[in-house]
Order: sequence, then C-alpha cells, then structure tokens
Amino acid sequence: MAESVTITDNRTGESIEIPISNGGIAASEYRKLLGDIWFYDPAFIQTAACSSSITFLDGDKGILRYRGYPIEQLAEKSSFLEVAYLLIHGELPGSDQLAEWTHEITHHTFIHENMRKRFLEGFHYDAHPMGMLVSAVGALSTFYPEAKDIFSIESRKKQIVRLIAKMPTLAAAAHRFYVGMPFVYPDNSQNFPSNFLSMMWKTAEHRYEPNPVLAKAVDILFILHADHEQNCSTTAMRVVGSSHADPYSACAAACAALYGPRHGGANEAVVRMLGEIGSYDNVDDYLARVKAGEVRLQGFGHRVYKSYDPRAKIIKKVADEVFSITGKNELLDIALKLEEVALSDEYFLSRKLYPNVDFYSGLIYQAMGFPINMFPVLFAIPRTAGWLAHWVELLDQDSKIARPRQLYVGPDARDYPG
Ligand code: CMC
Repeated sequence: MAESVTITDNRTGESIEIPISNGGIAASEYRKLLGDIWFYDPAFIQTAACSSSITFLDGDKGILRYRGYPIEQLAEKSSFLEVAYLLIHGELPGSDQLAEWTHEITHHTFIHENMRKRFLEGFHYDAHPMGMLVSAVGALSTFYPEAKDIFSIESRKKQIVRLIAKMPTLAAAAHRFYVGMPFVYPDNSQNFPSNFLSMMWKTAEHRYEPNPVLAKAVDILFILHADHEQNCSTTAMRVVGSSHADPYSACAAACAALYGPRHGGANEAVVRMLGEIGSYDNVDDYLARVKAGEVRLQGFGHRVYKSYDPRAKIIKKVADEVFSITGKNELLDIALKLEEVALSDEYFLSRKLYPNVDFYSGLIYQAMGFPINMFPVLFAIPRTAGWLAHWVELLDQDSKIARPRQLYVGPDARDYPG
C-alpha cells in the first residue's frame, strides 16, 4: 500500500500525490496544488507546527519518552538536573559532564539584588506568585543584555544555565514575598531540590535540612514535568523564539501560557474542586454535574493522552511515599473515589477521559505545605528545561518566524458614516 495521500482540486480536476513522512504530510507539497486555500485548524488539533527529536508521546498507548528514554526509567534512576542536561544536549551526561553541569547550575542560582529588592518588592502585597514569576523572568533579560546574541553558542549556554538555576530562586522569592517572610539566599551546599526547599521553608536555623524523601519527591515531580512536546507553553516558547527574541523574553511568554487553568493551573483547579466536593459522599452528585456539562472534572482528560497518563501512574506512587511522611492529604479519599467511579462510567470511558499528571500532583504539593497559588510556579521550574531544549532546537533548525494565516470572516469594505 502506498504511503501517500492524493488530493484533488475539484474546481480544476488537478490532483497531487503527497508522500506521508513520519506520520504527516508536508504543507509545502499541498501548497503546490492549493496555495490559496488555508487549512483551518484553530487549536492546532491536526497540525504539526515543527519537527522535534526531544520528546516522544503516544497518547493512545500512554507512552512518554525524553530523547528515547522511557519516563518510568528516568523517574526511577535519574535526577532532574541529569534530565535537564539530556533534554538540552540530546544525550545523558557522563559523570564529568554531570559534575560540571551541576556545578554550573549551582553557581548561578543567585539573582541580582535589584531584582529582589527593587523589582520583586515593588509588587502589591498580595501579588500572585505566578504573576510575579512571569514578570521576573521577562525582567531578567534586562540584567543580561548579551542574551540577545542568540547565535553565540557561548551566550546561549550561559543563559540556559542562568534560567534553569534562577527559576527556583525566583519562585521561592515570590512565595516569601507573598507570605511576608524574608528572602532566603541560595545554599550552594545543597542539591537542586533541597536548595529550593531551603529557600522556601528556612526560618531561623543555620542550615535547612529537608526530609530526603520529600526532596526526592520534588526531584521526581520535576522530572515528570520537564517536557511534554508541543504543549501550549512550549508552543509559546517556540513562537516567540521564532522572532529571535532573547530566551528570557520567550521564557516569560511560556510562563504566561502556563499560568492558565487549562494548562499549568490545572492542579490548582483540582485541589479547589476536591475542596468544593468536600466529602466522599458528594462524589456521585459532582460527577452527575460533570456529565450534565455544568462543570469539568479537573485533572481529567488530555488533548493527547487518550489512555492513562503515564506520569499520573508514577505520581500516585510518589504520593504514597510523601503521605507516609506528611500524613495523608484529607482530600485523597475524595480523589480516589472520583477516579474509581469515573473510570467505570460510560461518559468518561467513551470520551477517553483518564486522570492526567495534575490529578494527584496538587495533593502532593499541598501535603508538603505548598500553598495552592504556588502550583503553577512549581510546574514552571522544571518545564524551563524543556522550553530551553525546544528553543535551542528551533534555532538550530533555521526556522522561519511563526506566522499562521487566518480565515477572514468580518465585514466587507464599507464607508465611514457621515
Ligand atoms: N471533564 C468533563 N468532560 C470533559 C473533560 C473534563 N475534564 N475534558 C474533556 N471533556 C469532554 C468534553 O466536554 C467533550 O465532550 P463532548 O464530546 O460531549 O463535547 C470531550 O470530552 C472532548 O473534550 P475537548 O474539550 O474537546 O478536549 P480537549 O482536547 O480540547 O481538552 C483539556 C483537553 C485538557 C483542556 C480538557 O480535557 C480539560 O479541560 N481538562 C481539565 C483540565 C485539566 O486537567 N488540564 C490539565 C491538562 S494536563 C497538564 C498539561 O499538560 O498542561
């Protein structure tokens, strides 16, 4: 059977045969026949906007791999910094490379004092930490003007290290400001997740010692959130990056995309939903409202996964380990019952709605003491590695500026009245 499609223009009777390559057909071929007819695909549902060798995802089979490595193996055997290196460089680091990478990241965690004292402290006292993060990441570009030199390999490397290293510092600073606690400087003697927990929770002690189980859980959650191919924020990164903006500005756009409840805000929405349901006994009533189209079941469904999200499976295991230290999140019983009932209900089965990564991550973060408004911020820290991997790939691909077409449906030309 030929691996191609044939398209016929019924207006002229002309046909063109287009080969199928890597599961898609090239729009440039289609254009040869139908140049003036646009594909209408507003949410990119049927459109591949790029080729990428970073993350493989099979939504029907529930498979997720970074650079070919299954997410289950990375979560079990790797660390977030190793995964960040893998995503950006394409290969796992050797031990010397990992040591150098870890040293570099660890020694770029500090932020300019003006960023903390003048910029972050200028926010309204109750500013949402994700709003602060979006702005702070964009503002970093003004501290590193050489970042505009995006085709200098040296400069690129430097900005990548800075962004990965400074995200936890900015994230914790936003939280400390929100709760009125003094800023905690990074502690270079701690590993990546422990340093973040130290900046979040340190009070009067000389050195903050995080519980190793909780630090490991944060590291695994960071691995699971590090990349997810062309999601909304990564697409934002690539679109803005295609204009050759500096990486901080592109990353700020990606953060902004992640702020929305349909994307990085979903775990926040899950916890709020579970709180609203309130008790185990109210689950059936809530599901009836979901089926009536009155509300959405937050943390369920995914544009790509049409079976169980593999990240959700790993997270469920992490949740048990975290709850053994923190005590069980009281919303867990409601979540488990929701999952059990939904997965045996025709409405959810027929629409292939399964728990996604956010169904349980919010419960873990809440049990660890993170306030709900920090959830999207916790997502942004590791996703920065994925965004940067896509940004580098995009620049290496010699891509054109992203500029889709539109179908104009407004009024015809008309005269200004009077
Ligand atoms: N609860 C109830 N019904 C749903 C849900 C849900 N969570 N998600 C989809 N549906 C229904 C939807 O009403 C539609 O039904 P019908 O065919 O009768 O009209 C059908 O399933 C298809 O839904 P869709 O809206 O066309 O699917 P989509 O691919 O556009 O949306 C989604 C994907 C993630 C935005 C959506 O499933 C959703 O809103 N889920 C809840 C929010 C959420 O958990 N988001 C986190 C995604 S994972 C983290 C990330 O990668 O960012």
